[in-house]
Amino acid sequence: MAKLFFSNSFLLSLISFLFITTITTAKPHSFIKTISPTTLGLHKPQKLSHIRFYFHDIIGGKNQTAVRVASSPTTEKSPTGFGSVVMMDDPLTARPESNSEVVGRAQGIYASASQSEVGFLMVLNFAFTQGKYNGSNLSILGRNTIESAVREMPVVGGSGLFRFARGYAQASTHSINALEAIVEYNVYVFHY
Ligand SMILES: *[C@@H]1O[C@H](CO)[C@@H](O)[C@H](O)[C@H]1NC(C)=O
Ligand SMILES: *[C@@H]1O[C@H](CO)[C@@H](O)[C@H](O)[C@H]1NC(C)=O
Ligand SMILES: *[C@@H]1O[C@H](CO)[C@@H](O)[C@H](O)[C@H]1NC(C)=O
Repeated sequence: MAKLFFSNSFLLSLISFLFITTITTAKPHSFIKTISPTTLGLHKPQKLSHIRFYFHDIIGGKNQTAVRVASSPTTEKSPTGFGSVVMMDDPLTARPESNSEVVGRAQGIYASASQSEVGFLMVLNFAFTQGKYNGSNLSILGRNTIESAVREMPVVGGSGLFRFARGYAQASTHSINALEAIVEYNVYVFHY
C-alpha cells in the first residue's frame, strides 16, 4: 500500500514536473519554429546564374550618380583618400556604352578603408529593373581594390527571385576618365 502510494505520487510529480517544464520552456520560444523547406519552395534544385553588366560611376557633371558624403580631416592628405565615404545610385547597363539598355542600378556606399592602397569597402544592392529579375535585388558586401585587374566581392544575399542567394561578383575596370568609371561586373550566384 505504502509502496503503491509512493509510486503514484512519484508518477504524479513526474507528470506535473514534465507538464510545467513543457509550459515554461515552450512559451518563451513560441515566436520561432522549424518549418519544412518545401513550404518556401526550397526543395527544388538551386540555379546557378551568371549575370554580366556594366556599372557607370559618374562622380561629376550634369549626370552625377555618386556623391561624396563624408571625409576626415586627414582624407585630403591621404594618398588613398582614406576615410572618404561616397553614396552612389549608379546605372547598370547591358553593354559598356552609356546609352545602352539600363538593366538595373547599384545603390549603396563605397568608402576608402585602406591606408596602403586604394581599397574600398563596398556595401550595396544591385536592384534589377529588366526582364524576369525586374524587382529582385542582390546584396554585396566586399573589398574593392580598384587598381587590381579583377576584384572579387561576396554576394551576401538577395530578395525576390534572389532569395537565399549566395555567390560572388567579379569587377574589372572597363574604362576610366575624369568624370566616369565604367566597370564590368560578372556575378555568379546560386538561387532558387
Ligand atoms: C546626361 O545624360 C543625358 C541622357 O542620357 C545625355 O543625353 C547627356 O549627354 C548626358 N550628359 C553628360 C554631360 O554626360
Ligand atoms: C519593372 O517593374 C516595375 C514595377 O513592377 C514596372 O513598373 C516596370 O514597368 C517593370 N519594367 C519592365 C521593363 O518590365
Ligand atoms: C528591390 O529594391 C527595390 C528598390 O531598389 C525595391 O523597390 C524592391 O521592393 C526590392 N525588391 C524586393 C523583392 O525586396
